[in-house]
Amino acid sequence: MTDNQTARPATLRIPADQLHAYVTAIWVQAGSTPREAALVADHLVAANLTGHDSHGVGMIPRYVASLADAQLQLNLHADVVKDAGAVLTIEGGKGFGQVVAFEAMERGIERARRLGICAVGLRGAHHIGRIGHWAEQCARAGLVSFHFVNVAGDPLVAPFGGADRRIGTNPFCAAYPRPGKPPLVLDFATSTIAYGKTRVAYNQGKHVPPGALIDHAGFPTLEPKVMHEEPFGSLTPFGGHKGFGLAAMCEIFGGALSGGFTTHTQTLGTTNAIINCMLSVIIDPAAFDAPDAQAEADAFIEWVKASPLAAGTDRIYEPGEPERVTRAQREAEGIPVDPATWTQIHEAALAVGMSEEETRRWSAHLR
Ligand SMILES: NC(=O)c1ccc[n+]([C@@H]2O[C@H](COP(=O)([O-])OP(=O)(O)OC[C@H]3O[C@@H](n4cnc5c(N)ncnc54)[C@H](O)[C@@H]3O)[C@@H](O)[C@H]2O)c1
Repeated sequence: MTDNQTARPATLRIPADQLHAYVTAIWVQAGSTPREAALVADHLVAANLTGHDSHGVGMIPRYVASLADAQLQLNLHADVVKDAGAVLTIEGGKGFGQVVAFEAMERGIERARRLGICAVGLRGAHHIGRIGHWAEQCARAGLVSFHFVNVAGDPLVAPFGGADRRIGTNPFCAAYPRPGKPPLVLDFATSTIAYGKTRVAYNQGKHVPPGALIDHAGFPTLEPKVMHEEPFGSLTPFGGHKGFGLAAMCEIFGGALSGGFTTHTQTLGTTNAIINCMLSVIIDPAAFDAPDAQAEADAFIEWVKASPLAAGTDRIYEPGEPERVTRAQREAEGIPVDPATWTQIHEAALAVGMSEEETRRWSAHLR
């Protein structure tokens, strides 16, 4: 990536617990209960800790804008609208995704423990952020899970062969718990890079990797501004027709099967809200007749990690390992927040009614 704004002030390094306290204070100021504010802070700070700054505290200004648009609904809870035993349909009602997804997973976990499996269709949640967070919640309970998510009515990705935005960045996630070891967690956007990563690059004055973006005319570009300034371009789907196909299934499983909605002319969003729908399938591994499952999974991971390293690589990671490495680093060294994002967060804090003095106090305290 190219840094074309070298005169910028340095990136801050903020200890996770202090950043958590500030984020909690912002949402309590906005009107959230302390529990809601803490769940939002847990999720955003954890996303930063794993290295996914695109889904961390930098989302706060967008959430505040959505609140101002009367879209994001504070202090709402997951509402089970249909209980069919091993299948639950849950309405999110534009409540904080960090709350309604947490509660939806709690219900699915309880049901999967009892029945062996539970499919949870969560619809109409406000942004549910880093999907790995929800898979990790299931894995902590000893459960396998996979998650298909759509970003309903918010097209940013061109279809394979297309030249304009038609699909959300629709993430897919799967996790496999391993007793005594960290879970395997695969979690990615079906776009070549997550949209939030274009925001981070734009704020930092950097380019994005080749192949990730096309401009408004369909030509490849490295400039993240095509996602943030008119005329708008598009993200590309990862892996050509395969990523496009997975994005399409995320759209239909997440958006249609949950009773939510998919992206098309009638559903295009016009506000700052980000609406996610998610199909989660949560499975108790103990329900299978598979006494060797853990040993087989471990043997496979050991086998692939023993591959000789390809030129230019220094290590083979298992799914979820890069996030664990980054988490350990950032827990020790603090979370990097670039100055533009930091200013936007302060402006958001002021917008929800925090006083200049309190904002300055937090700023001075955290620097
Ligand atoms: N809520 C939403 O609307 C929404 C939309 C899109 C993306 N997201 C989130 O954005 C986040 C970022 O997505 P992304 O596509 O930028 O992720 P990414 O490209 O960084 O890929 C992450 C996945 O790849 C694995 N990985 C990364 N580097 C690896 C390596 N060298 N070797 C082996 N495995 C490796 C990671 O462990 C992880 O499972 C995700 O957490 C996703 O859930 C959310």
